[in-house]
Amino acid sequence: MSSGPETIGVAMLGYAFMGKAHSRAFHDVRLLSPPLLPELVSISGRNRERVEEARARYGWAEAVSDWREQVRDERIQLFDNGGPNNLHAEPTIEAARNGKHVLCEKPLGLDAEEAHRMWREAEDAGVVHMCGFNYRFVPAVSRARELVEAGALGEIVHFRARYLQSWGWEAPTDVWRFDRAQAGSGALGDLGAHIVDLARFLCGEVTAVSATVRTYVEGHEVDDAFVATVEFDNGAIGTLESSRLALGRVNQNTFELNGSRGSLAFDLERFDELAVSDGGPYRSEQVTGDWWPPGHGLGWGDTFTLEVQLLLETIAAGGSVAPYGATFEDGYRVAEVCDAMLRSAESERKEEIEYR
Ligand SMILES: NC(=O)c1ccc[n+]([C@@H]2O[C@H](COP(=O)([O-])OP(=O)(O)OC[C@H]3O[C@@H](n4cnc5c(N)ncnc54)[C@H](O)[C@@H]3O)[C@@H](O)[C@H]2O)c1
Repeated sequence: MSSGPETIGVAMLGYAFMGKAHSRAFHDVRLLSPPLLPELVSISGRNRERVEEARARYGWAEAVSDWREQVRDERIQLFDNGGPNNLHAEPTIEAARNGKHVLCEKPLGLDAEEAHRMWREAEDAGVVHMCGFNYRFVPAVSRARELVEAGALGEIVHFRARYLQSWGWEAPTDVWRFDRAQAGSGALGDLGAHIVDLARFLCGEVTAVSATVRTYVEGHEVDDAFVATVEFDNGAIGTLESSRLALGRVNQNTFELNGSRGSLAFDLERFDELAVSDGGPYRSEQVTGDWWPPGHGLGWGDTFTLEVQLLLETIAAGGSVAPYGATFEDGYRVAEVCDAMLRSAESERKEEIEYR
């Protein structure tokens, strides 16, 4: 990376949950990661009054009611898409065609076909692309990847993960997350996509899946929960499970890897810890990143800062956010696994995955 200040004009679509998380991340990067200087040029949404409120609160220079203005704006180098899933493809592709680097929240597209198109368009445009798989940036997860890369686990034989939430019982049924046209899928694309990404990040490519997918709550067009067994290219086998109906589990994202020499286990409910076995019982390693002195922990919101930091560094230096950040290719490959799970639930058979 060069040593001078790197000013990068940013535009954000969406001002709600992810709008807030990403806005904070850009401010934090300015503070914590000189010489990167993201300029918060504009934030967009449909409701002029609410987007103006968000602009003022989150520190953006301009509020815009149509993302088309943003993708044509010459002051902008990075377009950040925090809209609902059905609004990922068109604005992101338009931004890339206009030469903007692109960050898009997960799941990348509504399905693998759309995600593939987004990847190819971004690649053809020659821009830096990143899909928002922020859990890669939990310091304990980065440490897990480091240990896997160093061969500390030996031959990996198992990966198992669950991502469980509980809000699905009570939420109003008209939120976009339950609508097939806006969301694509339910717990699968929302929570499952994160653990499929972690499976690929830590264990390798998924080659086959067998899944059961269920909708329990009346009025939901998409799945509330899934369970799946998965096979990996390296011979490992695993299980993945997500639900929006797991009362008591407000936001549990947990995984375990077992190898011939050791194991690793992580639970988001214990953010700063990685359980490590070198053959014997697990011991807990404290992993708190390097912003502060050791033992001064980070939190969920900080994963977005670390994600955006890598993206801005990559834009400044050139190249790709891979292998530690998720590219649109990763977003596409995750979508291919999720689609195969839906096919498997339908066919009641194991589905082999063919990547395009
Ligand atoms: N990485 C993560 O951990 C994580 C967490 C939550 C959500 N997400 C993803 O982020 C995306 C957004 O989710 P969210 O929770 O922020 O949703 P949200 O409902 O809180 O916010 C969606 C935003 O998009 C805006 N919007 C909707 N339609 C629009 C349109 N036609 N034009 C302009 N703006 C429009 C809404 O006004 C709102 O600001 C989703 O793809 C979701 O899967 C990722």
